[in-house]
Formats: sequence, structure tokens, C-alpha cells
Amino acid sequence: MCGIFAYLNCGVPKTKKEIVEKLLVGLKRLEYRGYDSAGFAMDDNEKWCEDDDDDDDDEEEGGDKKRHDAKKVIVCREVGKIANLEALARKELFGEDDDDENEVKASKSKSSNGRKKSSSSIKPLDFCASIAHTRWATHGPPNKINTHPHTSDSRENEFVVVHNGIITNHAPLRAMLERRGMKFETDTDTEVIPKLCKFLSDKFEESGEKDVTFRQLAMEVTRQLQGAYALVFKSTKYPGELVAAKRGSPLLMGISDDSGEVSCVIDGNLSDGAEEDVLLKKASGNKKRKSMTGGAAAAAAADADTTTTTRITTTTTTTTNNPKVEFYFASDASAMVEHTKRVLVLEDDDVCHCHDGTYKIYKVEKQKHPHPGYTSGHDSPEYGLYKPVVLSKEVERTIETLEMEVESIMKGEFDHFMQKEIFEQPEAISSTMRGRLVLDVLGAAERVMLGGMSQFAATIRRSRRIILCGCGTSYNSAIAIRQLFEELTELPVTLELASDVLDRRCPFFRDDTCIFISQSGETADTLKALEYAKAKGALCVGIVNTVGSAISRATDCGVHINAGAEIGVASTKAYTCQIVAMVLVALSLSEDSRSKHTRRDDIMQGLLKLPGCVKECLKMDAILLELAQELKEEHSLLIFGRGFNYATALEGALKVKEVALVHSEGILAGEMKHGPLALVDKHMPIIVVCTNDGSYEKQQSVVQQLKARDGRLILIVSDDDTEMEKTAPDAVILRVPKVEDCLQAVVNIVPLQLLSYHLTVLRGHNCDQPRNLAKSVTVE
Ligand code: AGP
Ligand code: GLU
Repeated sequence: MCGIFAYLNCGVPKTKKEIVEKLLVGLKRLEYRGYDSAGFAMDDNEKWCEDDDDDDDDEEEGGDKKRHDAKKVIVCREVGKIANLEALARKELFGEDDDDENEVKASKSKSSNGRKKSSSSIKPLDFCASIAHTRWATHGPPNKINTHPHTSDSRENEFVVVHNGIITNHAPLRAMLERRGMKFETDTDTEVIPKLCKFLSDKFEESGEKDVTFRQLAMEVTRQLQGAYALVFKSTKYPGELVAAKRGSPLLMGISDDSGEVSCVIDGNLSDGAEEDVLLKKASGNKKRKSMTGGAAAAAAADADTTTTTRITTTTTTTTNNPKVEFYFASDASAMVEHTKRVLVLEDDDVCHCHDGTYKIYKVEKQKHPHPGYTSGHDSPEYGLYKPVVLSKEVERTIETLEMEVESIMKGEFDHFMQKEIFEQPEAISSTMRGRLVLDVLGAAERVMLGGMSQFAATIRRSRRIILCGCGTSYNSAIAIRQLFEELTELPVTLELASDVLDRRCPFFRDDTCIFISQSGETADTLKALEYAKAKGALCVGIVNTVGSAISRATDCGVHINAGAEIGVASTKAYTCQIVAMVLVALSLSEDSRSKHTRRDDIMQGLLKLPGCVKECLKMDAILLELAQELKEEHSLLIFGRGFNYATALEGALKVKEVALVHSEGILAGEMKHGPLALVDKHMPIIVVCTNDGSYEKQQSVVQQLKARDGRLILIVSDDDTEMEKTAPDAVILRVPKVEDCLQAVVNIVPLQLLSYHLTVLRGHNCDQPRNLAKSVTVE
């Protein structure tokens, strides 16, 4: 939720326009995280607005000149999409009209209508601290006033902050600050943060504490905050400096330093992703490459694009000696990758301070001594000495190299990310299996190799039960795999919606294995459930797409699904790859079972065929477009499934409602006669998933009962089926390739993904940024 992007150029001259362009592009990359409103703040040095002849003075002042320059801060905010902010910035900062053909980036050398502002866009600045944000509102409507960045006061903008997360104690903090005369302008929880900066900064000064650094101040501020946050601070008091802090919400720092003077050594053991079976325990984890089996390589399409993060050996210093360096902060790697591939993942309670070409990371330590002057925000005394008291120690974080390519976050030839990601599924599934499904010399699948996870297999097999946990689509993938887990492990398998785990305070035990499934690896509910399970002593396993994410780091072991970046808010390829990854886990847990040998073998051979079958399914695109045309005016859609395909019904319905904004319900077919049948008439479109597996006969009877009530039927059947069209001659029949029953859900979801995509486009909605939603839900 929400995207943060921040940029600090140190000794690398940039014009105002270049910086604005960078901020806007960064925000566009993050727009899928939140798109209610957007804004940015950057230095507006008077020097920029004056004539150009003061260059010489600047030269003389050398590295210190930034401190004399930064006097004003531009804050630009707009409601809605980044395009609106871009239009506003063009108009207000560069004097370009809305209908001007030129984009901000295309107008680098153009003078802005002869206005004085124009020189500011051309004259480069050596140091400029800028922060930007795209919002997913939690507190206060998405209007202009609530748009980030938030400021200590909107005239001076002395302290400016962007925030992702929720400050749960914002009300007492606000009351305390209001009692001390501070005026609040917004409805957000965030506004207390810049106000606290100003309040504490003034108090430190009054107490004679003149040398409080920006980092110390930010630490004192964060000490007062409860809840979740990723924050980036800038201030006119500390020009040319950025401070970032995080707890609970994701934040990465990127470094671009052409001279390579940031000290780090690449060990050459770059992972191809398929070997990343043990999720990152710590950012400093360093794994050795294992050789990839030839068979494994053949098991998957060779050209699949993996999106993984590779580790670099730990000799990374936390400073750079190079004054020419650019620092970036972003909520995720997609905003970073076109500027630098060298990133570090900030951990909870880290505070990162960048200035004068250096960066340092400090970890806040537990407070040992009560503050002599004030305690926690809301009960601070009116009087007393204010001193910075937060104890911290400098820490090192490993710089990692992103193996993500810019193309993976671009739409390419597709109209939408959702469409691209649906069509990427054959490659993505191959990528999930690469290096893990090992083939024999004849090309048949022989065994499953899950690298580091294998050392936990015995513990998992000895578990008292397996708990599969996630939210939304990730939870649906757990439903899809439950039956196979039960069958192959012979353990009780229960399902938990992550948000419900804490609400119910589920009884988890030391001998439980909890498997946490998440595309983003940042979903707050799932992360909290994981922390809860850890506290109960359960073994925690992750099935995660995003390498280096909070869930991948917090779990004991796991599997990266390697589906590549998923940008569309509607999860598509992550769903199918999650199922495939969990099939591999179930296979690896049952490898010693002789009685399951044949079944396991059938599944493994089925896995090999899966990418091809999904590709076949994608050829139905035109048929699904036609069906969407027929259904586009409908207000409701029911989807019935059972067994391995109950998940297909739920996931299909979730897709239809979240992007096409059509009410849709996924129903366990066995439940039909216990209520939903009342909804059936000749108008209500009903999709029944009735591919040929163990539930086939029961589904045939469901179709008969629906037909008897004049139901308007759409049937998903196996390609060799001859019975269903006899049972329901008027039904629309969608034929899909038949695969092993436990893999059929991977194939069957494809027509429903295509249907929801086409419905969305035909109904004039934005499938990549559906109403009220955002990609990673980092708030509870
Ligand atoms: C999927 O289409 C949804 N956008 C949503 O349900 C999503 O799957 C859920 O929020 C979980 O996200 P995660 O996989 O990143 O944890
Ligand atoms: N809670 C803050 C707000 O409502 C930040 C939300 C976000 O993460 O975008 O403005």
C-alpha cells in the first residue's frame, strides 16, 4: 500500500526538471501500490531562481554550498493518478500548459514561457533531497490536503515527510501537539510525524542542544510512534540530507555510484533463482551456488525470465567515500531497477541517514533509561530538558544485486499488466519448476529437489499438522493444494485466513508447521500471523514471490515461486505458480513413501506438461472475449466448483469482482442445494467447473439440477469430454486440456482470468488499478 520514492543526488548535478522527472517515473513504477493521490517535495533553491552568474561563488564554497542553497521547498500534490500530478508539475513548476505536447522529460532544454522559473529547470544542482509518495488512504479521504508529503507547516515546510503505514497512536500525539499550540491541517495519521519533528527540534534548541543531527531527531520522532511505518524525512534545517526509517512497512535503499567506490565484493555465485529454496533468513545471508541439473534445465522453458535477487558477499561498508553518488529509497525494487541494481533492504527499526555522499544505518536499541525531560509523546511534560536519548548502534546491511530487468516491469506489447501476466504463465510456471523438477536421461521427471528446504523435510513430516495461511488469492492457492497435501503427507492440513489467525488467537503449537503464502511477501496480516506462529514455536515456511521481502526473511525456510514481478493488482501468475510450488513441496515431503510412488510419478510427469497445457488454454482468448461481450451488462455471476476446483470457483469469482466490479460468488458445488440454488433462474449466469476428475459425476448431477431450474450455464470441461454437452445442450462449453487432477486448477483458472480481464476492459474499468485496491496490503 502506497509507494514511497526518494532521491538524493550528492555531487551529481541535476536540473530541477531532471529531478521532477525522476520522481514522477519512480512514482509511476509504484502506482500499483496506491493511486488515490500523489505528491512530492524537493528543494527549491533560490539560486535556481536567480540569474546564473553566481556560479563562481558556488565553486568556492565546494561541498558546503548545499547548506547555503536550500532555503525553500517545493511541495506539489494532486488527487488521482500520477498523470494528474505530472500535469500539475508541468504547469506550476515549468509553466507548461496542460495541452502542451511535451512531457516533463521532453522539455529539458526548453525555456518555460520566458518565466523566471525557467532558469531553475536548467540550472543543475549538486545536492538535492527529494521525496515522493503515491497514496492509498487509510486516514482521511483521498483529497489534496491529505496527500503526502506532509509538512511541519505548509508555509515554511521546514520538515517534510512521506509515510507508508498507519500510526496507531496518532490521536494522543496529535492532542499533545495541539495542546502545545501546533495547528493541524489534514485528517491523516501521518501529519503528527512532521509536526513532532518541528516540536522536538525546537525543544532541543531551547534546551541548548544545538548539534542534534537529522538522524538523531528522526530517531527521537520514531521513538514516539506506534504502528507501522516506512518514512523518509527531509528538512530545510538539514539541506542535502535524507533520513529514512522503517518498522513493519517495506523500504529499500539503492545506491548508484559509477566509480564503484561503495565497497563490496561480488562472489560470482549468482543464484538462478531455482536454487533459492531457503528463503532469505537475513539480508546478510550468503548462499553458495549449486550446479543446475541438465534435466532440470530442460524441465522448464529455457527462456523464462526469473526475477530474483542475488546476494553479494558481506564486505559492504556502510559508507561510501565517493562524493559523487546518488541515493534512492523506494517501497519496492520496481522503482529502483532502472536507476541502480545495487540495493539494500532496510530492516525494522533501522534508520538510514544519507548526506555528503555517505550513508549510515543505525539500529534503534531498546530504551534503557527513561528520558529525563519527557516520556512518550502524549504524556510529555510541559517543562523539562529535551535531549536526544534514543540509543542506537551503527549496523551493516548487505548490498544485494537486483537481477530484475527493467522489461519485467514494463507492459511490452500488452495493453495491461494483468493481460501480460496472464499470458506469461507458461514461462512463469516453467520458472517455478526450473532446477527443482529433476529429469532423467530420457527426459522424464525423476524427483523433486528443493535445496535448502530439504533439511526441514523430516521436521515437517513429524509435525502434528500443517497449517496453510494467506490472504486473498494466496489463500485460494492454499485451498487448491490442501487435498494434495493431505493425500501425500497423510497429515491433517488446516487452512487459515491470516487476518483471522490473530482475531481468533488460533491455537498454534510447537509441533505445527505453518506455511505462509504471499506474492508480495509484505502483506501485513500474513506477516503478523507469521510472527504469532513463530512466537508459538511453530516451524514457519514461506511460499513467496518477492525475494528479500519481510515474509521471506522471517520464515525458517521456504520456496521462492520465481514468477517474476507481478504488477497488476489482480494476482494471476502468482496464483498458478504458488500452486505449482506447493505441489513441489508436497512431492518432496512424500518422496520416501513407496505406496505413493505411482501417484507421485504421474504428478511429476503432469508437471512437465503443465506449461504447454496453460499455453493451449491461452488460445481461448478470443472465445473468452466473446463470452465477456455477452456477459458485460450482468450484475452477478455465480461460479460452482468442488474438490480440487473449489479454489478455481473462489479465485475466478475474486478476479471478476475485484477488477470487473461485478458481484460474483465462488461456491462449493456441494453447498448449492443448501441455499445458493434459490438464486438460480434463467437470467443468472452460472459457471460450473466440471473437468474430468473424481468429482465429475457429482458435478454432472449439479449441472442437471441447475438445468432443471433453467439455469444459464457456462461449463468448463475437459477437452475430451462428450457427456456434458449432452447433459446441458444449451450451455456454453469451454474446453480445457486435461491434466493430472491435482494440477487441473492451474489450467482451469486461465479461462476465468481471461474472462475477468475482458469483462473489465469492456466495462471500461482499469484492470491494473481497480477501485479502492492496491497491490501489497501493508496495513492490517
Ligand atoms: C489478488 O488478486 C488480490 N489483489 C489479493 O487478494 C491478494 O492476493 C492478497 O492481498 C494477498 O497478497 P499477497 O499474496 O501479496 O500476500
Ligand atoms: N496512513 C497514511 C495516510 O492515510 C499513509 C497511507 C499509505 O500508506 O498510503 O495517509
